[in-house]
Amino acid sequence: MSQAKTTVLKIGGSVITDKNKELGVNMEAISRLADEILEANQRNLIIVHGGGSFGHPVAQEYAIKDGFKDKSQLLGFAETHHVMTVLNGIFMDALIWRGIPAVSIMPSSCMTTRNGRINYFGDTPIKQLLKMEFIPVLYGDAVFDTELGFTILSGDQLVAFLATQFSAKNIVIGVDVDGLYDTDPKTDAKAKMFDRLTLNELNKICGQLGGSNACDVTGGMRNKIAEIIPAVEKGIPVFIVNATKPKYVYKALKGENVKGTLIEKE
Ligand code: IPE
Repeated sequence: MSQAKTTVLKIGGSVITDKNKELGVNMEAISRLADEILEANQRNLIIVHGGGSFGHPVAQEYAIKDGFKDKSQLLGFAETHHVMTVLNGIFMDALIWRGIPAVSIMPSSCMTTRNGRINYFGDTPIKQLLKMEFIPVLYGDAVFDTELGFTILSGDQLVAFLATQFSAKNIVIGVDVDGLYDTDPKTDAKAKMFDRLTLNELNKICGQLGGSNACDVTGGMRNKIAEIIPAVEKGIPVFIVNATKPKYVYKALKGENVKGTLIEKE
């Protein structure tokens, strides 16, 4: 059974869905990424994917992240949770039919939050999966919150949490831009990309990064980065890479040279 250290891979919702079209799947990206994950042949891998045009619009419509306020939100919670299982099913299909022993773990069934932060994690199933060299797959989810009733748990919080829990060797975050920029590269042609940042440098620029404009209930790039800081503090390096470009995720998983932003403790 496996002793190798774990890599945690996040695939952003904006990569595997069409963010401009509610419930739009980017099947081409899902298939290509599944090919890359198969080819990279990582024995110790946890995958987390985001919600994109599946989770975010409905979560926003019913203000699920803000917690339970009235009964009309119950259907919204159910719907948000359900569309995430649908997206996850499509993603799982692509992995499993390629021969990847991936097993889906529903965050809302093994975790709760308190004011939006994970406060309970039943880790036995994932531990067992890793031990047996399965690939656990989780996703941003609508979860139960001991203060708020319910909320949204972002894939990014999950990534940092799981990486810390399982003392991961690294985190790879696949997004729809080439890395971390000083301003939004989608709206600012002069945006400058960082190749490498230390924790100190990151903390300095974190307050200056803008949120992304697309519908995103979990806070855009600034929040994504803030979420992964605790993992970097524990000494786990984070590599942000463009998952819309063929072979970038593959190379990042293999530790091969590829464009992206590396964030390290020092
Ligand atoms: C959000 O997950 C999930 C829901 C809204 C239910 P993420 O915040 O990780 O999703 P992306 O990667 O930004 O789309």
